[in-house]
Amino acid sequence: MTSQQRTHEVLSDIIDSVNAQLDKHGVTYDEYRAGLDWLIRLGHAGEWPLFADVFFEHTVEAVNATGPGSTIEGPYYVAGAPWLERPYVLPQRDDEAGDVLILSGTVLSAEGSPVPGAVLDLWQADADCLYSNVHDGPPAFNLRGRMTADGNGRFEVRTIVPPSYHLPRGGPVEELLNAAGWHDWRPGHLHFMVSAEGYESLTTQLYFEGDRYLESDIASAVKPELILSLRKHDDPAELSERGLSRPFYSTSHEFRLTPAG
Ligand code: DHB
Ligand code: FE
Repeated sequence: MTSQQRTHEVLSDIIDSVNAQLDKHGVTYDEYRAGLDWLIRLGHAGEWPLFADVFFEHTVEAVNATGPGSTIEGPYYVAGAPWLERPYVLPQRDDEAGDVLILSGTVLSAEGSPVPGAVLDLWQADADCLYSNVHDGPPAFNLRGRMTADGNGRFEVRTIVPPSYHLPRGGPVEELLNAAGWHDWRPGHLHFMVSAEGYESLTTQLYFEGDRYLESDIASAVKPELILSLRKHDDPAELSERGLSRPFYSTSHEFRLTPAG
């Protein structure tokens, strides 16, 4: 199939689907014009990536996933995050809000052998649901960093437990959600892009047991294999060993990479 045929087929179906819904619901001229006005404001506000990723990226991701363990990238990845040095601590403010999280894990091949030197690019929102380099507030590259797995494919990084996350408020996407009576929440999450020579790069997110939005993620991006349980550590000896003055949480995850091809 040529690219023109492909474009013709996909676009015809999308256009037909939209027309069928306009017909089915007897959409009025007032509604049509309000919708157009909203689309124009969506562009002016720069929220097209947010809108598309919330409502549609999960389908593209599912269609293209090469195995379990992946999910959507979302709109807020920024290339060029700082390379961290061991022991890995995600860049953060001295008084970064949130509980301390120690995440450890392994990068494995599909057959379960370690992938030494795999690169993990990690990014997350702060406790106010703001992403550095995207939203006003956090310093540049706050809670963003790149690290490598060791010779056994293992890594450990300290960050904060991401609380439940709401989408940016005050813009056209929020307006749409309000108009339809939908909430604007996602479960708290850590974003990862994991890559290594000879493997497909893996884009995914990790979630945490007990988050109240695991079942109703507005972006439809939760998969059971990505939900981790947190263990609480409050033994004073263990805290002082870690140089921490408050309890922390720990969890671990295995990332599996599929061979390039
Ligand atoms: C979306 C995904 C995210 O991870 C996020 O933080 C915000 C929005 C999305 O699907 O648009
Ligand atoms: Fe996110």
